[in-house]
Parts: sequence; C-alpha cells; structure tokens
Amino acid sequence: MGILEVQNVNKSFGGLKALQNVNLDIEEGTIHAIIGPNGAGKSTLLNCFVGKLVPDTGTVMFDGKSLLGIKPHEINQTGVSRVFQTPEIFSELTVAENVLIPCFAKRDGAFTLNALSRVTGEVDVREKAEQMLIDVSMEDKKDMLASSLSRGDKRRLEMAMCLSQDPKLLLLDEPTAGMARADTNNTIELLAQIQERRHITMAVIEHDMHVVFSLAQKISVLAQGTVIAEDLPENIKGHPKVQEAYLGGAH
Ligand SMILES: Nc1ncnc2c1ncn2[C@@H]1O[C@H](COP(=O)(O)OP(=O)(O)O)[C@@H](O)[C@H]1O
Ligand SMILES: [Mg+2]
Repeated sequence: MGILEVQNVNKSFGGLKALQNVNLDIEEGTIHAIIGPNGAGKSTLLNCFVGKLVPDTGTVMFDGKSLLGIKPHEINQTGVSRVFQTPEIFSELTVAENVLIPCFAKRDGAFTLNALSRVTGEVDVREKAEQMLIDVSMEDKKDMLASSLSRGDKRRLEMAMCLSQDPKLLLLDEPTAGMARADTNNTIELLAQIQERRHITMAVIEHDMHVVFSLAQKISVLAQGTVIAEDLPENIKGHPKVQEAYLGGAH
C-alpha cells in the first residue's frame, strides 16, 4: 500500500484527454519522479493531488483516505504540501519572517499574513522557524529581504516554508526549472538531505534527467496522458517506450 494511490484517473479539458487511466503508487518515504514530454499531463496530475483539479473518473487516495472532493487547504492540512514552479514567497518580507508565517499557521490552523501581527514572545514557534532555516542552510540569510535572494535560495526558502507545515507528502513541480547548474546541484543535495533527515515522501515532476537520476528511487513516465512505464531508475534509462516518447514518437 502506497502513501499515495492513484487509480484509473481520467481528466479531460473539453475534447482534450489530458489524463487517461492513470495509475500511480507512491511508496511511503521514497522519492518518486514523474517525467514525460511537455504537455504529457504531469502538472494536471499533480493538480489532482492537491484539489486544484478534480478527476472526471478514478480515485486518489492519500494515507488511506480519498482526496476527491476535499478542498485544497484541507488536503494541505492532511499533510500534502506543494512546492510551486515559481516560488511563492513574500518578497517584501525577510527570510525569517517568511518562515514564521507557515510556522504560526501550522499552530493556529490558518495561512494568513495576519499571523505575523501576533508574533510576540512565541518562543517555540520562533525556534521552529529557526530550525527550518538551519535545515535548508539559510540561517545566515535570515535578515535578508526575500526579493534579494538568488533563484536557488528562493527555492530553498519556499522549501523551508513547506517543511514548516510538517508535510507527509511533498509535491514538487520542476523544482530546478530555470536554475543554473550550481543551484540545481544544491537543490538536489537539499532534497536528498530532507528525505534523509525527515523521511518525507516526495513526488517530483522534473525535466532535468540529471536531477531525476540523482534523486528518484522510482520513476513513472507519462506520455500523452498515459503512464507508459513505472520502474526503477536503472530500468527506465534504456526503456524503448520511454526513448520513443522523448525522441519524437509521441510528440
Ligand atoms: N486548464 C486547462 N485547460 C485546458 N487545457 C489544459 C489545461 N491544463 C492543461 N491543459 C492541457 O492538458 C495537457 C497536459 O498539460 P500539463 O498537465 O500542463 O502537461 P505537462 O505538465 O506534462 O507539461 C496539455 O495539452 C495542456 O495544454
Ligand atoms: Mg507542467
């Protein structure tokens, strides 16, 4: 039994079948990559995990419970957290303030900027926020404005914000998109560390094969809305269907 189980999911946009009979089984504590050409349906699938989209048919089970019909913020509270393609941080606040918001929200049960106005003498929450910054190696940047961070550091900050919610499942949509090689490698290292320290399950959508093969314990390949392969990384590499999907067959 996986922590996330997807069965026979279909999703159409008008006449376009974005997902067709998708099955996916993500084992607890693993990093599971979802790869595939542009337009394969990867983001659509992820949106079905966070309640942003509802599948036309099929089931999505997280930790033994159906996620269908559950509102995004409720899904978030059950332990599913998503890292966005463009970091969702508060640019005009400092690094430390950014992390305090989800730490207070976790305690108070709401994700609002007002959380900041109640920050006085909340030692435990402040300590947690500090620990989060240490975990992503950003404690030395805590007083910097978020807007002044490099792309890689913005990603790191967003990761700390996600981790503050103590997720059981972390969803990442192209976490290294647009990054320079050095930042990409830092992100790989960061994700590997997080998994090692916290045993968080991660589903990673990724284009960069270097990232995929550095991190993933299991890989699902989507092409034209269908899972054409799900296997160990070493078996995916030489998979003829996968090569076909990437080298022009499907697109
Ligand atoms: N909200 C939407 N409305 C209409 N079509 C969409 C919508 N979202 C995605 N699509 C289409 O569904 C297909 C899969 O898109 P997407 O899931 O974004 O692919 P990927 O993330 O793998 O690149 C694409 O053809 C895309 O144009
Ligand atoms: Mg996408």
